Amino acid sequence: MTTARDDGRERGALLAWYRAQKRDLPWRRDRDPYRIWISEVMLQQTTVAAVIPYYLRFLARFPALGDLAAAPLEDVLAHWAGLGYYSRARNLHASAQALVRRPDGFPRTYQELIEMPGFGPYTARAVASLAFGQPVGVLDGNVIRTLTRRYGLALEWWRPAERTRLQDLADRLAAPPALDGDDAYDWNQGMMELGATVCTPTRPACLLCPWSAGCVARTEGRIGELPLKRARRSREIWAWHPTVHERGGRVAIVPNDYAPFLKGHWIWPGRVERLEAAPKSFDYRATVTHRDVFVALDPKPVDADSLGPEAKWISRQDLSKWVPASLALKAIEAADRRAGKTNEV
Ligand code: ADE
Repeated sequence: MTTARDDGRERGALLAWYRAQKRDLPWRRDRDPYRIWISEVMLQQTTVAAVIPYYLRFLARFPALGDLAAAPLEDVLAHWAGLGYYSRARNLHASAQALVRRPDGFPRTYQELIEMPGFGPYTARAVASLAFGQPVGVLDGNVIRTLTRRYGLALEWWRPAERTRLQDLADRLAAPPALDGDDAYDWNQGMMELGATVCTPTRPACLLCPWSAGCVARTEGRIGELPLKRARRSREIWAWHPTVHERGGRVAIVPNDYAPFLKGHWIWPGRVERLEAAPKSFDYRATVTHRDVFVALDPKPVDADSLGPEAKWISRQDLSKWVPASLALKAIEAADRRAGKTNEV
């Protein structure tokens, strides 16, 4: 067990390391809660390198909370296209509309933020600490890795009770008196930075780590086993046979009531089929969470007249707003290739 004094020294070492080594990332240039919120939501399931261009484009289009709240959902989804996990964009939009109605602006504490729609424990702590300096600890995959290794914690971090233990540890480390409000920003960024750049999943750079002297996993040779590995969800293979109906430059879309992926999206009419193995022929493929989706345009399309009343006919220019997921949008290109057309969407 470390003493409070060692703890304080380690915290100082992490802050000093972060201040010297931090990457210059676009969301680290100011403390604007709206901008920090957007970046943290984007970063939750997507890597830093992938997020940067999306973040810049999103903020150029929706520079402030009011711009996001006032925008049509389709426009928000179009600016999310390619990042995946579209429920994040829908929730951001709904939350922006709730936030903008508040007379006293963005909530400043974890306790208030967690009450807002779309804010979970991670996002609420990230915004409270990064934008407003509240000394609460963020817990993401990077932080889980650094904490379980540093303290030698073989716990099943995906279970709520164990996760609460880790969250309590993260909160305690971020708390006064060792850290004051101004440090909460650097502390949390530093914890995430350490996990992202030094305490990496495989082959961590322990020689560069400000915590190596006290690290239990390193001294006990347990880096390979910590954090514990969660059993992977088994992968599923799906065939998707969408049909692109086009009439007078307009294409039919329907609310997705038939595919287990792209839930809540407008997609092409069609059908899906669960497969045992990857098919030999298909137009293109994509992975959505634990599903490999092989897309083959339907060779026997249903008659456009049989589409239900919920179908919408959308002009080609507007398609990317209604069908932002590239998994779906690519079907148009495949249909054009089949028809021998070369024009872009
Ligand atoms: N991952 C999640 N939040 C992050 C941040 N603020 N900086 C770098 N990586 C992150």
